[in-house]
This record gives sequence, structure tokens and C-alpha cells, in this order.
Amino acid sequence: MLLECDGISKRFGGVHAVAEVDLAVAPGQVFGLIGPNGAGKTTLVNLISGHLRIDAGAIRFAGADVTRLAPHALTARGIARTFQGVRLFKGLTVLENVLVGRHARMRSDVLRRLWPRGAPDRRDRESAGLLLERLGLKRPQALAGELAYGDQRRLEIARALASEPRLLILDEPAAGMNPAESARLRELMRALVAEGLTIVLIEHDVRLVMGTCERVAVLNFGRKIAEGTPVEIQASPIVREAYLGSEDAA
Ligand SMILES: Nc1ncnc2c1ncn2[C@@H]1O[C@H](COP(=O)(O)OP(=O)(O)OP(=O)(O)O)[C@@H](O)[C@H]1O
Ligand SMILES: [Mg+2]
Repeated sequence: MLLECDGISKRFGGVHAVAEVDLAVAPGQVFGLIGPNGAGKTTLVNLISGHLRIDAGAIRFAGADVTRLAPHALTARGIARTFQGVRLFKGLTVLENVLVGRHARMRSDVLRRLWPRGAPDRRDRESAGLLLERLGLKRPQALAGELAYGDQRRLEIARALASEPRLLILDEPAAGMNPAESARLRELMRALVAEGLTIVLIEHDVRLVMGTCERVAVLNFGRKIAEGTPVEIQASPIVREAYLGSEDAA
């Protein structure tokens, strides 16, 4: 397994946001993570990417214990993620945002000392340019903050890919995308997986999840209530009940 979570938990006061979740993601697959609003999906990702401190449990990545590593150390090991709300450097250009993402890969202490200013070289610029092309982002010199929302979301993915990850975690990447953009996102994920990338996809767009994921885990109130193939998940009465319950509450 590339990523293994073993009984990981996180509480916020009285809220058990993530409760003893086990997860095993095999290399080269798209693994879906779904669940009603507030189920704990983003919190789980924040634990895996080191953006939140874990209360209990263990996380292994590529065979090594990474449970309490900081975000930049996890990036260096090959975990990249996007954020549910766009978190770009809006005053920097599109290209600069990708270059910052590329640098995240090198932010180990040793490299920081060797290369304190971290000036991007020509190879950095070339590979950033290729990534922008791949994501269909045509204006490298535009300010990120001036892009349409769907383009900003794609730039987030480009920035995450710039760190050359082995695992890419996408937190609702299609939110705010139109159907054509979301179909292109699906194609991109397929191509990336064919190249050996592993993806964890959090998504409310059922069609995107069902059309992309090999396995799907379902969270509800912080707990994993089901896991299986998309077909199994769609047929699961437990899952249906969880979603109906949340609609009643809304
Ligand atoms: N920083 C925080 N402080 C306090 N409570 C939080 C914090 N982050 C999340 N929570 C709570 O933890 C629970 C899980 O939230 P989380 O954002 O992980 O859910 P989610 O599945 O990503 O939901 P959504 O589909 O709406 O994005 C919710 O009850 C939420 O209110
Ligand atoms: Mg969320």
C-alpha cells in the first residue's frame, strides 16, 4: 500500500471530527472519499498532509512512518494536496504560483541552507510551463487572483503537481467547475494515474467519483461507515441512509 492510515483520530472540543479511521490506498489507483457535509473528509486530509496534528493513530507512506511530520517534509516525501477553498498567491502570476509549488519539493533544511534564495532555474520554468499547458492554463503572466474560479482551481492542481508527488489529494476539485471542465478533470486524472500517480479524490459530484475511482470510502460523523467499489457503494443501504439522514437534518 502507498498510504496506510491506522486508527487515526482528531477531536475539536466535543466534536470527534475523525474517529479511528483505517484507510489503505494502493499505488496507481484513484481512491474516492465521500460523505455528507461535516463528515470529516477535509479533516482527514489535513491529518494526512500534516496540516493538523493527529490525536491518535498512525500514518504510513511508502512503507515509512510519517505520522507527525510537518507539511513540507511530507511534500518532500511525495504527498501533495489541494485545498477545498482556493489557496493561491493571488498577487503572484500563474507561472510564479507553479514555481512556488515546485520549490516546496526542495524545502528540506539541507537544501534551504544550500540554496537559501531558491531562485528557480530554466528547467523549473520549463517544467512549470509544461504543467500549465497540460492543465489548459493559457496566461502564465496573468495574476492568479484575476483568473476565473474554474481556472484558479486548475492552477491549484498545477501547483500541487509541480512538487512531483507520488500521491495527490484533491479536496473537491470540481466544485465551481462547469460540466466541460469537470469532464476534462476526469481525463486528466486518468492520464496522471496511467503515468503512475496515486490520487485520493474527495468529491460531491457523484458522476466524477463513480466514473474515476477504483475504490470509495464513505465517512459519516468522522467514522468510516463503508468502503468498496463504486458499484458496491451505490448499492449500500448504510450509505444511502447516511445521505438521507443528512438531507433530513438540512
Ligand atoms: N478547525 C476546526 N475547529 C473546530 N471544528 C472543526 C474544525 N475543522 C472542522 N471542524 C468540524 O469537524 C467536523 C468535520 O469537518 P470537515 O470539514 O472535516 O468535514 P467535511 O467532510 O470536509 O465537510 P464538507 O463536505 O462540508 O467539506 C465538522 O463538524 C466541523 O464543523
Ligand atoms: Mg471538506
